[in-house]
Amino acid sequence: MRKGFYPGSFDPPTFGHFDIIRRSLALVDRLVIGIGVSPTKQAIFSVDERIEMLLEELSAERDQIETISFDGLLVDAATQSDANLIIRGLRNASDFDYEAQMSATNSKMVPDVETVFLAAAPEIAFISSTQIRQIARLKGDVSSFVPGHISHKLKEKL
Ligand code: PNS
Repeated sequence: MRKGFYPGSFDPPTFGHFDIIRRSLALVDRLVIGIGVSPTKQAIFSVDERIEMLLEELSAERDQIETISFDGLLVDAATQSDANLIIRGLRNASDFDYEAQMSATNSKMVPDVETVFLAAAPEIAFISSTQIRQIARLKGDVSSFVPGHISHKLKEKL
């Protein structure tokens, strides 16, 4: 069985994340969505809220998906989840520079877990959770970047 591990902060999940998740599901039998919790990053949504938002949007794909949170190394979380592929989305060249370095480091630590990069669809490749949080804080409209229920939760939260 091919099992993928898709890590990220998902604070909040965006149309970009859902595009990568749906395209990953064509490549793997099961996908673990790993919510990385960093002590240095101040998240606006709790892990439970992020999982709830992800699963609400992915109700049709629910039987192929698991969610976990992790606060250690990505490779350890992927290995503990029995995943054989790590999936990362690429939006642009600076993503590539960062991700290529991260995948080389991860591969040195755990050689049998391969990283696969998926290019984001051009029409949503510019979306970033950081900018969405900023727009929402400044009371802007984020409905082009996240599903309606997430846009609603952002409004409530901020
Ligand atoms: O959505 P993001 O912010 O791009 O996700 C970042 C995440 C969670 C994937 C990244 O911070 C991460 O991999 N954290 C785990 C720490 C780790 O394994 N570091 C070594 C990588 S070389």
